[in-house]
This record gives sequence, structure tokens and C-alpha cells, in this order.
Amino acid sequence: MSMDERIAELKARLDAELSRITEGADLENLRVEYLGKKGSVTELLKGLKDLSNEEKKTFGQKVNLLKGEVSDRIDEYKARLAKAELEKELNSAPEFDMSVPADTQRGSYHPITLVQRECERIFKSMGFTVEDYSEIVSEYECFESLNIPKHHPARDMQDTYYLENGQLLKTQTSAAQNRIYSKYKAQLINEGKPIKAIFPGRCFRNESTDATHENTFFQMEGVMVGKDINISNLIFFMKTMLSEVFQRDIKVRLRPGFFPFVEPGFELDINCLICGGVGCPSCNRSGWLELCPCGMIHPRVLEEGGIDPEEYTGYAFGLGLTRLAMMKYGIKDIRDLNSGNLKALDQFTDGEE
Ligand code: DAH
Repeated sequence: MSMDERIAELKARLDAELSRITEGADLENLRVEYLGKKGSVTELLKGLKDLSNEEKKTFGQKVNLLKGEVSDRIDEYKARLAKAELEKELNSAPEFDMSVPADTQRGSYHPITLVQRECERIFKSMGFTVEDYSEIVSEYECFESLNIPKHHPARDMQDTYYLENGQLLKTQTSAAQNRIYSKYKAQLINEGKPIKAIFPGRCFRNESTDATHENTFFQMEGVMVGKDINISNLIFFMKTMLSEVFQRDIKVRLRPGFFPFVEPGFELDINCLICGGVGCPSCNRSGWLELCPCGMIHPRVLEEGGIDPEEYTGYAFGLGLTRLAMMKYGIKDIRDLNSGNLKALDQFTDGEE
């Protein structure tokens, strides 16, 4: 085959191979196949050494031209492939229109997030650690470890969603107590460092929903365990903490309340924020608002967490974050909080960030 024929054949072969290629990576292989050290074009150049001087000159030029041509053809094809790919991408994603101007509304935090962060800040400043805890827990964590054995009537009020493996969606943040005691008991016993922890979280209950009941809501549990912790500590602490949260001096009162994991157990009320305690429709004219159940941790609960109740005592409280957010932002219907309706949620927090 003459040199001219070989050049023509090589070009035809390149065209045929290019037309079969659909991927950019294959093109790079093709480039090596033709222009690499052992490539077809390079082989042609090597063949020049067998020709006469005259032929060397003419064919040398032709092969050099061919080299440029092959490279150009490959580049050209590459650009065509990239364009086709981009077009395909744009056509297959009609919802994402890059030419639409950015939304100028920046969004805002959920009222519960704002209240939760505020509480976390206050508790941290008082030496509490903030714990993260799962939403799916065992029956032991949610009930048994909290002195609520199977068939205890207290379980009726906390029906929830059970999974096939026997676990459940937690009904109360108290479910984290046992794990917290296990986690920090060594520190308490060996170093004499009291356990001070809060654990905010989402809770679930089988609930008929109305303006004040939801199947999903938020609580923030808190515990403090150490030597000689008593009810005065609990009252002082709750008063200080709530005055911080509401940014004013808060009066509190305790009423007896029953919760199997505390003894004694209390309902903590604060003086009504709207009327200041005189009595108004918001507080049913009583001057008080029910805010936070609490109590001295039941000896059995401490024991279950590996802490000797003869030596250590502690208090626990379950702050209703959802309730707190509703009070703080004047939200009348709890269902607004889970609605995902940004217009409804934005109005409470005024786009606060
Ligand atoms: N877990 C209780 C509930 O959801 C609230 C509660 C009551 C928590 C008393 C506490 C407590 O820590 O001491 O009904």
C-alpha cells in the first residue's frame, strides 16, 4: 500500500471509529491509539525512514498535516459530545431552571428550634451538657427503666407507635435517663462530679389531634444527680432557669403530681405571663400556668442506672418545648407547628435567624 493510500485509509478508519464513540473517556483512548508513542500516525512517521529523501520530504509533510488533522477531529468530536451531554441534562431536569432568579426570601428557623437553642444556651451556661438521643428506643428505656412495668396504668396515657422489632417511637424524653446515668455514673462515683444533663427531643404519642394535642411534639428533659441534692435545689434551679427563658422574674409553685419515675413528683406552675398573676382568660383566672412536671428521681430509677440511691439523690424535669414555644410566640394551635406551612410559621418568628 502506498503512503497516500495508508493516509486515506487511516482517515477513513478514524471517521468510522469516531462515529461509534459516545463517551468522552473513549475519545481519550482513541487519541492514544492514533497519536500516542505506538499510535497509528506515529507508526506512519516511523515508516518514513524506508523512503527516498525526496519521498521523505513530501510524505513527512503529509503525515505531519495528518497529525494535526487527527488531533483536531478528536477535539471537535469531544466538544460535540459535551454539548450533547449538557443538552440531555437540561432536557431531563425541567424542574430546575438555572435561569430563574434566586428567591429573595431567606427562610427562618422553626419556633421550636429557636426556643430549644435558647434553652440549650441557658443550661450550658449553668454547667449542663446537652445530649443527643434517638427517637426510636426500647420498651426498657421508655418504660421499665423508669419504674413503669408492663401493665402499669401509666402506659395507657403513653400509647405510641410500635415497630415490628418491638422498639417504639419514644413517648417522653425521660426515656434517655437510663442511658445518661450509665454514661456518667463513673464520673459521679469516681470524681464526685454531679451529673448535669439535658436532652431535648421529639416525642410521639397516639393522640387525637386538636388545638392543644399533637401526635408529635418536643420536650426537653433535664436531670441533676449528686450528693445531697434536694427539693430546694430543684425549686431554686427551676426558678432561675425559667426567669432566664422568659427574661423576667418568674414566680413558681409546686403542686403534687404523679409520675412513676419521681418521688415526690410535682407539677410546676409559673405565674401567668399575661396578667402577672391577677387572673385572666389565658390562665383560667387562676393566675397560674402549668409548665413543667418535675420531681426527685425515684430510687429505683437511679438504681436501674447503676447509681446507689442511698448515696446519691437527684431531680428531674420534663420541660414541654412545644408548649414553651406556643407561650413565647402566642401560637394558638399546636398543629401549625407541624404543618410545614412556611407562611404560618414565619409570622411567629418574623424571619428571626
Ligand atoms: N416524661 C413526663 C411526661 O412526658 C414528664 C416528666 C414528669 C418528666 C416528671 C420528668 C419528671 O423528668 O420528673 O409526661
